[in-house]
Amino acid sequence: MNHSLIKKALDMRKQAHAPYSKYYVGAAVETDSGHIIGGCNIESSSYSLTCCAERVALFSSLAQDYFPIKALAVSTENGGSPCGACRQVIWDLCGDIPVYICDDSGLVDTTTSKELLPKAFDQKFLK
Ligand code: THU
Repeated sequence: MNHSLIKKALDMRKQAHAPYSKYYVGAAVETDSGHIIGGCNIESSSYSLTCCAERVALFSSLAQDYFPIKALAVSTENGGSPCGACRQVIWDLCGDIPVYICDDSGLVDTTTSKELLPKAFDQKFLK
């Protein structure tokens, strides 16, 4: 477990744009090359257009050509874990990686993307 990854996920909560839910989420990914890229939730007044912190971190990492990703950390006020949509995207982009769940003071649980999304749908079902 990389302490810089956890710290980045905690720090990223400060960047969250969550005026509607006021549930501030930070995330960070770590690449094979050792880069750490952060993300935060960004909400829309048209609620369903909101993007979760995990996906912002993942997409930002890929957009900057920081890939493959070997670990992800997520931070909320109360140790919330990634939503279903993010679990699918984590699996699609990263496969089975460690996922570190944090509350506002630090690490509270260590899991994996496979544990979060067992029996996943993925590219193996597509031609
Ligand atoms: N949220 C995340 O950023 N990640 C999750 O995995 C769960 C939910 C955000 C979306 C929304 O801005 C707020 O938390 C409340 O759902």
